[in-house]
Amino acid sequence: MVRFGIIGAGEIAHKFAEAAGMVGGCELAAVAARDGERAEAFAGQWKIPHHFGSYRELLASGSCDVVYLATTNQTHRDLALMVLDAGHHLLCEKPLALRHRDAREILSRAGERGLFAMETLWSLFLPTLNTARRWVREGLIGKVHMAGMMVSLDAPADHRVRSPELGGGILYDLGVYPLHILPFLLDTEIRDVRAIVKRDDDGIDVADLIVLDLGGCLASVHLSMDLPMTAPSVLCGEKGSIYMHGAHKARRVEARDPEGRIIGAFEDPFTNGFEHQIAHVLQCLARGETESPVVSHRASLRCAEIFDQVLA
Ligand SMILES: NC(=O)c1ccc[n+]([C@@H]2O[C@H](COP(=O)([O-])OP(=O)(O)OC[C@H]3O[C@@H](n4cnc5c(N)ncnc54)[C@H](OP(=O)(O)O)[C@@H]3O)[C@@H](O)[C@H]2O)c1
Repeated sequence: MVRFGIIGAGEIAHKFAEAAGMVGGCELAAVAARDGERAEAFAGQWKIPHHFGSYRELLASGSCDVVYLATTNQTHRDLALMVLDAGHHLLCEKPLALRHRDAREILSRAGERGLFAMETLWSLFLPTLNTARRWVREGLIGKVHMAGMMVSLDAPADHRVRSPELGGGILYDLGVYPLHILPFLLDTEIRDVRAIVKRDDDGIDVADLIVLDLGGCLASVHLSMDLPMTAPSVLCGEKGSIYMHGAHKARRVEARDPEGRIIGAFEDPFTNGFEHQIAHVLQCLARGETESPVVSHRASLRCAEIFDQVLA
């Protein structure tokens, strides 16, 4: 039984805790928050046996094997290193780090210590996006030349994505998805990047337009923190197109021929969605792997390199 410890008892930690309960072979063993009462309340809600009012106490307790780091972005580098130095495997919320050098430091440290380390990218484990990937591989829509993803949220004024102190910015928060998903779907790498970045008065990027050269395919990525939207993402190939309804949270994918006739459709009305990623982590650990073959270190490093380039 793999024992998870959670660091940070915020919004996403609740979603993770719910998902962990859906997966066999693991248990939530401990949770830590900066405020002990908060940790206790979280532990009570999810029936977690150990709770701590400091992250260091959890790491020293020996109560868990893997730490799920669910804190705000600006803390990821220091806390990830702390987790690894304490001898725990690491599942770090996206983005792994805000700069390439920090991402490299985290992954090098994991390598030196022989520990598993992975940036979370739950979308890459969704059956919908894996179906789209398989269609591309099987040639259902032919060679893909164009792709587009529009991803946004409607963030209130006090949301962490608008805060420079909390590592805010739309590229860190949502840009990370297309930067991982598009190369994953097309089984390729990002070769070149151009971007237009719109910043607010605090210097936070609130909207980005990024163009990616993915080899044979040029892709556009629109990001915004100022609107709710449901526009599908699309891959356009010589024999048809694939539409992903819900972008990185796709619950339905469909393929259409050039005349618009449906040639493939798949739906997964998931309620949580993190469970597939957690099951994957368990498989990696069971196989003694220190790196996920799906969210590779190389992909996380490339993503962080693009942060440096786009936000320079
Ligand atoms: N995978 C996804 O779908 C997804 C979705 C949303 C967010 N995320 C990622 O998950 C992480 C957390 O996001 P969230 O929405 O859960 O954020 P949140 O609720 O605002 O904060 C998460 C936790 O960060 C901790 N924290 C540590 N230092 C902090 C500081 N100086 N100020 C404020 N909080 C601090 C707090 O832990 P304590 O409980 O110890 O106080 C807080 O509970 C981010 O990296 C984000 O990118 C992922």
